[in-house]
Order: sequence, then C-alpha cells, then structure tokens
Amino acid sequence: MDAQLFKRFCHIAYDRAGIFLKDGKEALVSARVAKRLRALGMESISDYIDFLENDETGQEVVHFLDVISTNFTHFMREPDHFDLLREKAREWAEAGVGKLRLWSAASSSGEEPYSIAITLEEALAERGANYLILATDISTQVLARARNAVYKASTLKAFSKAQIQEHFLKRPDLEGDEPFFEVKPNLKEHLVFKRLNLSKPPFPMSGPMDVVFCRNVMIYFDQEVRQRLVSEAERLLKPGGLLMIGHTETLTGVQHNLKPIRPSVFVKRQPGESTKTPERRGGGR
Ligand SMILES: C[S@@+](CC[C@H](N)C(=O)[O-])C[C@H]1O[C@@H](n2cnc3c(N)ncnc32)[C@H](O)[C@@H]1O
Repeated sequence: MDAQLFKRFCHIAYDRAGIFLKDGKEALVSARVAKRLRALGMESISDYIDFLENDETGQEVVHFLDVISTNFTHFMREPDHFDLLREKAREWAEAGVGKLRLWSAASSSGEEPYSIAITLEEALAERGANYLILATDISTQVLARARNAVYKASTLKAFSKAQIQEHFLKRPDLEGDEPFFEVKPNLKEHLVFKRLNLSKPPFPMSGPMDVVFCRNVMIYFDQEVRQRLVSEAERLLKPGGLLMIGHTETLTGVQHNLKPIRPSVFVKRQPGESTKTPERRGGGR
C-alpha cells in the first residue's frame, strides 16, 4: 500500500477509535483490510478506502475497526491482578461493603471479565457473591463472542478441573477438533456487555466503580487519548478503588492523582489524602 493510502487509514483509525497506527504497519493493515475487501466483493484497496470515508451509515467503520483491532487475550492473564482482586474483595466484604461494581474497559472476547467473575465467585463464596461487571469493547465481533461465552477446552488451561466443573458447562452439541465449554448462566448474569469507544469520553456511566481493569489497550493510544481515558477512569473510581493497567503499560506522562501501589496497579486516594509519600521515621537505612 502506498504512503498516501496508509495515511488515510491512519486518519480514520485515530479519528474514530484513538488507535495510533505506527509507520511500518502498512502490510498488517493491508492484510487485515483484505478480509473486508473479500467480504464486500471489492477488488482494490483504494476503492475500499473511498467507500469507508464516504460511508454515512457508520457501519463500515465498525467493520474496519473490527479487523484492525488486536484482540489477543486469555483467561487469568497477568494473574497477580486476580490475586489482588481476591484479597481486596474479601477485605471489602469483611468491612461490610455491599455490591461490588467493576469495569473491564477493553474486554475483548470475554476472558478478562469472566476471569474477574470467577475470582469474585470464589473469593466471596461464603458470603454470597454480590457484584456487577460492566464489560466494554469497541469491537462488535469480540463483544458477540463474549456474550456467547463459549470457549475451546484448550483456552481453559488456567483453571483446575474442579473450577471448570464449577463455572462451565460442556457443550457436546458443538462439533470441533476439541470440546467446547460455556460459562454457566449464574456467572453470566453478573455481566453486562456494551460497545464503548474508549477514545471518546465522557463515558455514559456514573460510577462509582470499585475496580477498573483497563489492560493492554492503552498501548494503541497516544498520550492525548491515554490522558482522557485515565481521567475518566479516575472520575469513575470510588475512593480506595483500584485501576489495573497492563504489565507492559505505564502512566508515565499522564496527569492523575492516583497512588501507585504496584507497577501496574493504582488506587484512588481518599478525599484529603496527601499526595506525598510519608517520610520514614527514625532516619533508618
Ligand atoms: C489486546 S486486547 C486486551 C484485552 C484484555 N483487556 C486483556 O488484557 O487481555 C485490546 C482490546 O481493546 C479493544 N480496543 C481497541 N481500541 C479501542 C477503543 N478505542 N475503545 C474500546 N476498545 C478498544 C480491542 O477491540 C481489543 O479487544
């Protein structure tokens, strides 16, 4: 694809989804857009970009974003976040906190929000788990897969046999090279899936959220889009609530008032809480 064409794709990706396509991604974009050309019966990529730019229904942009987004995810990805969630959920339940509200901001095909649900079911089993997870993504394709909640056996490696039995139902009616499992309805009823573009705040939710998982999506955004997104996450969190970001992501260069407690975990400060790190007493080593 020539530089001029690539620039037009970059403009649409950034303008509509905040996705910053770096130079050198021409071949990747060509390969992914080829799928749409085939589906539409188009022959040239320049016809496709004309069609995309002039599509007044907005439908083709949705398809374009579906094909260029990277949806890689898996169950219990970055497991220390789920260890911390388990710990905090128990602590909050002991302190008498009622229903927990969580947001999986780029939920992809559902592995992240269902991992959150399984963690909470297990952490709060004795008390009866009371929680609601809002799971959002820009891609309609992955949201449909997430709502469907059917996964191949090989994707469930992070879970023990007992966990699979507890939280999934085997689907012998589905044929394939390996068995399929569906998330049980009692778990599904704690989740709400919605399409949301993280690059276009303000978001239509009011919060307060106990935990926001915003993982492995900021890597696609530039500093301006990240700033707006983190400010929204901060607004939606309750004091003491947690923001989890991907292990390879940082908030360096982003203005916020969150307290880092681990490299990829931040907590919203209590009102009036000092932003300074307390001085160490006794002048020790
Ligand atoms: C690599 S996946 C991360 C999934 C999951 N959070 C994880 O860490 O495993 C990135 C997801 O971000 C979504 N995404 C990309 N741009 C977005 C935007 N502007 N708004 C909402 N979601 C977006 C993609 O569709 C994709 O499903």
